[in-house]
Amino acid sequence: MTKTALVTGASRGLGRAIAERLAADGAQVIVHYGSNAAKAEETVAAIELAGGKAFAVQADLQAPDGVDRLFDAIADRPLDIVVNNAAMFEGSTVLTATPEEFDRTFAVNVKAPLFIIQRALPLMPDGGRIINISSGVTWFAVPEVIYAMTKGALNVLGRSLANTLGEKGITVNTVSPGITRTDMNAWLDENPGAADGTVGITALGRVGEPTDIGDAVAFFASDDARWVTGQVLEVNGGLLLGPLEPVHHN
Ligand SMILES: NC(=O)c1ccc[n+]([C@@H]2O[C@H](COP(=O)([O-])OP(=O)(O)OC[C@H]3O[C@@H](n4cnc5c(N)ncnc54)[C@H](OP(=O)(O)O)[C@@H]3O)[C@@H](O)[C@H]2O)c1
Repeated sequence: MTKTALVTGASRGLGRAIAERLAADGAQVIVHYGSNAAKAEETVAAIELAGGKAFAVQADLQAPDGVDRLFDAIADRPLDIVVNNAAMFEGSTVLTATPEEFDRTFAVNVKAPLFIIQRALPLMPDGGRIINISSGVTWFAVPEVIYAMTKGALNVLGRSLANTLGEKGITVNTVSPGITRTDMNAWLDENPGAADGTVGITALGRVGEPTDIGDAVAFFASDDARWVTGQVLEVNGGLLLGPLEPVHHN
């Protein structure tokens, strides 16, 4: 039977790659987006062109009624796979952070995933899959403290839910990308040397591409991952594994 997958933030970037890969694996994909209807329709069109099934749903996850709006459109369809991918990044440091930015970012990156999962659970059969998209900023320090805190919260959410939902046969895993080429990382192309700098701290010697993340999500969504839950998988080409040159000089 065809499975249905909800992918939040699937209009662009990693969400689009995740949606396209899950559709290629046979799922009907609900392509959620915030404001970029044209881009969401591009994702749907790409899936359909490849022979898959998808439709787009709009909901602003910063808005208090965002999750209600999303589930009004889902209209009690069974949900086999939920991928919480949508997130925002404003980039304040501790010196510039405001309570408003904190509330906005936590609303989209943490509150929405929790309540999307709450609403999805009654629609999710045994063997359901929940995959949250975190970030390597949970283990390497960055100055953008609010964003990093939201991703730390997602890692904790994943472990807690995996334990709670095990009895329902639902797995919960977290994919933690490194530096991947998307709109969120426009600096990679805008700042001279940024891409080379990233390559220099990545064992596999290139910048990550959205499909690198989509393929990892597809593993957790598949039956092959049936015995894996509560895990965080770093999908980053070996980012910051250590120095590439010997550190001891005679
Ligand atoms: N790119 C990286 O290197 C990287 C690294 C680590 C983790 N991540 C994580 O990977 C995920 C995807 O990142 P990305 O780089 O693909 O981001 P992106 O290119 O900026 O795309 C963000 C997506 O989230 C949606 N979104 C943002 N704010 C929203 C809101 N208020 N309501 C509803 N939808 C909203 C956007 O919808 P619209 O198009 O409609 O605006 C878009 O589809 C995020 O969780 C991010 O934190 C990315």
